[in-house]
Amino acid sequence: MFVQRCINCESEFGLDERMYVCSRCGDLLDIERSEPLGQSVEDLRSLWLERLKSREARDRSGVWRFRELLPFGPEDAIVSLGEGNTPLYDAPRSADYCGITSLKLKHQGNNPTGSFKDTGMTVAVTQALKLGMRLVACASTGNTAASLAAYAARARMLCAILVPEGQVSDAKLAQALDYGAKVLEIEGNFDVCMRVIQELAEQSSLYLVNSINPFRIEGQKTVAFELAEQLEWQVPDHLVVPGGNLGNSSALGKGFRELFSHGFTRKQPRISVIQAEDAAPFARFFSGNGEGEFINESHPRTLATAIKIGAPVSWRKAWRAVRETGGQVITVSEQEIADAKAMIGRDGVGCEPASATTVAGIRKLVSDGAIGKDESVVAVLTGHVLKDTDYVIKYHNQTLVTEHGERIRGTFANSIMRVAARPCAIENALKGLS
Ligand code: F0G
Repeated sequence: MFVQRCINCESEFGLDERMYVCSRCGDLLDIERSEPLGQSVEDLRSLWLERLKSREARDRSGVWRFRELLPFGPEDAIVSLGEGNTPLYDAPRSADYCGITSLKLKHQGNNPTGSFKDTGMTVAVTQALKLGMRLVACASTGNTAASLAAYAARARMLCAILVPEGQVSDAKLAQALDYGAKVLEIEGNFDVCMRVIQELAEQSSLYLVNSINPFRIEGQKTVAFELAEQLEWQVPDHLVVPGGNLGNSSALGKGFRELFSHGFTRKQPRISVIQAEDAAPFARFFSGNGEGEFINESHPRTLATAIKIGAPVSWRKAWRAVRETGGQVITVSEQEIADAKAMIGRDGVGCEPASATTVAGIRKLVSDGAIGKDESVVAVLTGHVLKDTDYVIKYHNQTLVTEHGERIRGTFANSIMRVAARPCAIENALKGLS
């Protein structure tokens, strides 16, 4: 019922062929349904809702609940940690900050390992199990590593992770270590790790689960289904996501495309991707109207280490999502990211730095007139606030410094006060509270 199909030459391959790119032309693969759905939109909508009441792991997972749109059968054993079903928050302070009437935040940081990667990993590791793989591997800026380590542990598989030395937050490394993965620090950035692991995957029997693997994208696309359901199947005018390796924007594009083509929704949201100013090859490509070659950034720099990526593997798929939906790709500065992050925190939500590019980007798109004041906007927050506490503390005590040595202003800084252990001292300290 499903095949792997090259996005360029349209060659088709079976689902059980372990491959990451087209063996004919080398381009990316998508998983596509080869037959019609077979169930009505109404029946599926109510079936998916009904499953929320079930106690079965397969029904409770926010990914597998939508299994009619996934390339597996009932006979396949799944590897799940209860991923998905994440909240969609109203964020009035952030909306105000952006200059729009309302803003919703889809918080993918509320996944089992604290990032959106879990929705893709449950599917990729399930496929690894189906293929009988013993060793799974990835290159990572930290979240993919934490996620893969957890799912591999659940599946009792061996797990190897390549990370750029000194560029991954302690919280993410701690997760991968606790889940028992072999963590290999590589001299070089994420792009170097990615290149090496791709070379190795071609020669050896390890299973690569970076988002170049189309099964990862299948899992991550379900966020579109969940979001549409949360909005009573009215999709927002704009969906805004951070861009690093560009798997997430590709997956959301695919998810909304499928919903639209099956008749679940009447339109697709405009998908806009936000990058950090000095790690922005996709934004550069976009500003050149996608003409000419895609030029990688050889020295990507940003304190939002999750998206410190200069050679995104999925850019072609992400380009399709942006172009098809009429979205934008823009950059935001380190200062804008830091302030937007603090503002999201004031809504009681919180997120990691990479996720805050969204709110910073929306603010810019509103001021440029690309987003109207009363349009409906959803930002996808990709990681939990506790993923990078070092950054948070430094912002609030005003010691956050960019890689170029520029100090970030603590526009919304909230510093810790030292107070004597006396009630009157505490009372005094609280006088300034507003
Ligand atoms: N936000 C967070 C928190 C991430 O961890 C990542 C990617 C992104 C956004 C960008 O998503 O790559 O799909 O465009 N992190 C990867 C990792 C690269 O290894 O954890 P993307």
